[in-house]
Amino acid sequence: MNIIEVKDYQEMSERAAKYIMGKVTANPSITLGLATGSTPVGTYKNLIRDHQENGTSYRDVTTFNLDEYVGLSGDDPNSYQYFMNEQLFNHIDINKANTHIPRGDASNLQEECMRYEELIAQNGGIELQVLGIGSNGHIGFNEPGTSFQSKTHIVQLTDSTIHANARFFDRVEDVPTKAVSMGISTIMKSKEILLLVSGENKNEAMHKLVGSEENENFPASVLKNHPSVTIIADQPALQGVKIPQL
Ligand code: F6R
Repeated sequence: MNIIEVKDYQEMSERAAKYIMGKVTANPSITLGLATGSTPVGTYKNLIRDHQENGTSYRDVTTFNLDEYVGLSGDDPNSYQYFMNEQLFNHIDINKANTHIPRGDASNLQEECMRYEELIAQNGGIELQVLGIGSNGHIGFNEPGTSFQSKTHIVQLTDSTIHANARFFDRVEDVPTKAVSMGISTIMKSKEILLLVSGENKNEAMHKLVGSEENENFPASVLKNHPSVTIIADQPALQGVKIPQL
């Protein structure tokens, strides 16, 4: 795990966007794995600005998002599909047909999980997966206790995740309690992983990530087994964390 320490959220967002832009420029038909949540919003803003100012093109890029809430259709403003359209896809030249997000409103969710897993494989897998981290160590919506062997699956969200995500909803009762998420093995199959971490509320998670052995009670710890992980984390998230020297 290569940890890049930056000052704050803004610098994390700029560095992450540059990293992604470099990959897209080197391989214009790259397959990216994308995340939602607050962490990547600034990164996406920087990608949009660069697209507008410098013309970096996403015409041939394919994307797979990590997760979607169960029960929400893609045009629901709280869905991750809607979020991605608003925060990124509507503002760049990507072909929406090449942007994939699990269908949270599929009538058969088990089939949807299998379809999504197969679609990723048929596309030749994910080259660069962008991740955020939950304060409980979740990646995607893989909560503590999720098997490291898991594929795309239906997840029961923990109370801590429901409360953390309630800020996007009118009322905590409106937050769906289930989601479809890429599994941990799905994420681990990506050739490369870029984990973005910002803020004091992620400090404990960073201490655990750096300091603990791989274990299923802290899902992000699986990343220690991945050959190519870059973490861009800001100072509040890294406060007191001993960064391992490579
Ligand atoms: C989002 C996702 C989650 C978030 C995590 C952190 O698609 O899969 O794992 O990355 O919950 O969320 P924020 O960035 O809102 O702190």
